[in-house]
Amino acid sequence: MSCSLSSSSIFSDFSAARPPTALVTGAAGFIGSHLTEALLADGWRVRALDNLSGGRRANLAAAHALAREPDQQPKQGRRAPGRLTFKFGDVLDAPLTSSLIAGCQAVFHLAGMASAPQSQLEPERCLDINGRGTLNVMRAAAEAGVRRLVYASSSAVYGDLPTPHVEGQPLRPNTPYAAVKLLGEHLALFFQEQSGLTTVSLRFFNVYGPRQSPDGPDAGVVPIFAKAFDEDQAPTIFGDGRQTRDFIHVRDVVKAAVLAAQTPDPGDGIFNVATGHGTTVLEVADLMRRLRPGRPAPIFAPARAGDPLRSEGDPAKAAAILGFRAVVPLAQGLAELLGEPSRREA
Ligand SMILES: NC(=O)c1ccc[n+]([C@@H]2O[C@H](COP(=O)([O-])OP(=O)(O)OC[C@H]3O[C@@H](n4cnc5c(N)ncnc54)[C@H](O)[C@@H]3O)[C@@H](O)[C@H]2O)c1
Repeated sequence: MSCSLSSSSIFSDFSAARPPTALVTGAAGFIGSHLTEALLADGWRVRALDNLSGGRRANLAAAHALAREPDQQPKQGRRAPGRLTFKFGDVLDAPLTSSLIAGCQAVFHLAGMASAPQSQLEPERCLDINGRGTLNVMRAAAEAGVRRLVYASSSAVYGDLPTPHVEGQPLRPNTPYAAVKLLGEHLALFFQEQSGLTTVSLRFFNVYGPRQSPDGPDAGVVPIFAKAFDEDQAPTIFGDGRQTRDFIHVRDVVKAAVLAAQTPDPGDGIFNVATGHGTTVLEVADLMRRLRPGRPAPIFAPARAGDPLRSEGDPAKAAAILGFRAVVPLAQGLAELLGEPSRREA
């Protein structure tokens, strides 16, 4: 992928010799670490901020290796060790956040509590990290003259509304996590009106791929099932398994985030990042058991409060305005993950 610096990008006045700089919050997490790599591969300098509450330093190993590669100008062949800097810190630390944002052209805000069930247990903490933390990042970006802020919103803002979910429909967030994600979208619009900052809120659907943690109260079904199969255990399905999810590979999600950063006119700046296809949890379990024959059949537990029955995003708006289309088929993404357990860390 090499597009951020192309002529159709808002960063076309930069080049590999004079790269633009981005802050990625939550960079040591699942999606943030893949995004950091993609930006480095595109020629960006990246400042990575994470408090390691959910992410791991090891997730950034490949990004550090990439940042050490000779830069993309073969004539100079210089090494560019400074293209990635990692800062251990918290988005709640406003002075730190401001200092990291100063001099950045783009900010990708992914840090936060990524768990709806956790937000039901700790709503104040969710409001603090995902609300006040987001406010810190967006205010600092607006004040620093950043050109584009990309915000990791969530399909959770739709709650249990009928599918397919379309950006313009009235929303029904039904957990503190979902409500605060929606607050972030409104803060983005507020700062956009107040400053030269343009913002894009991406409503990620069910992201899966390497480095996704199987632990914690909101771990995705894919890493949970993969771990269960590694341990020859029966995976647990909450509810009857007929609930659908729009599973999207992290490679596609990263592509959407890069396009969101560079698209000159992103319209109202709110997009689903989805495949448009719903797959039941039972189908995922079947697909995965076909890839790992002989593994135990799933067992069932009561459905969890706040879990929607159906979740499928309409991808048309992101296709029309950002030129984004998800291309990794679920069967391929799962086969890559289950082929070798070590690839889950890749
Ligand atoms: N994975 C999905 O399916 C999905 C779906 C919708 C939205 N999202 C959103 O995308 C973003 C990234 O999700 P992910 O799946 O990579 O989760 P993740 O937990 O792997 O990444 C979040 C990162 O943020 C860091 N972090 C948390 N609180 C912080 C704080 N106060 N200061 C600094 N860093 C902090 C964590 O250490 C972690 O590395 C989140 O905002 C999440 O809500 C994810």
